Amino acid sequence: MDTFLSLYNSSVGKKFVVALTGLFICSFLVVHLTINLFLFKNDGGQTYDLYAHFMSTNIFIRPIEYILALGFLLHIFTSAYLWWLNKQARSVPYKAKASSENSTLASRTMFVTGSIVFIFLVVHIRTFFVPTRFADVEPSSYEMVKFAFRDPLYVLFYVIAISLLGYHLRHGFQSAFQTFGIKDKKYAPYIHFIGGIFWLLIPLLYIAMPVYFYFNPY
Ligand code: HEM
Repeated sequence: MDTFLSLYNSSVGKKFVVALTGLFICSFLVVHLTINLFLFKNDGGQTYDLYAHFMSTNIFIRPIEYILALGFLLHIFTSAYLWWLNKQARSVPYKAKASSENSTLASRTMFVTGSIVFIFLVVHIRTFFVPTRFADVEPSSYEMVKFAFRDPLYVLFYVIAISLLGYHLRHGFQSAFQTFGIKDKKYAPYIHFIGGIFWLLIPLLYIAMPVYFYFNPY
């Protein structure tokens, strides 16, 4: 425990925690997307509700939810803390100018995009997760999704927030591998390719859901 805490107290340790939890969240995004793709199955939500019910009642899945929540919290708290430490260190204006010359916009806006994704998560969990866990009678997840995406403002909010999630991942995914020291030219094309799946394809598929239900409400 002491070793973990002293590692966490170092800047490298915190970067490591952000990278590890970030990739863990990426793996969640794949599982969540796979289940959500059943929303498109033309069976009135039967298959989707079956999976949603399995996920919310299975005794092996429930503990994973706590690990997932811990992963999200560690990622959010540690990256916000690192951002604050960097801000403290970067007090000379000309240094800020120099950093904007050799860094991408995606990397410089990580705190903003991450904060908007955090707001999205709070709203999302309140809309979909809380009712399935705390209502007296378990609602149909499919009906909840269909109902929520009738609202154009809610759909717009999803489209913007998930696009920003993609932008966040554009820098975040490859940055995690740099933190792990994997920047060998040999691996670069693979990281670039898989990174593209995470920042472009996966967000596009997520965005397709609210858009689809908005235009097909019945
Ligand atoms: C836009 C398409 C999306 C739809 C239709 C959707 C739908 C849902 C639903 C129905 C639940 C409750 C599941 C249950 O019954 O257990 C849920 C939970 C959750 N969603 Fe999403 N989601 C979407 C996108 C996202 C994105 C982009 C993220 C991450 C940034 C995310 C993160 C979560 C988390 C953390 C939970 C709680 C844990 C869980 O139930 O697995 N969702 N989502």
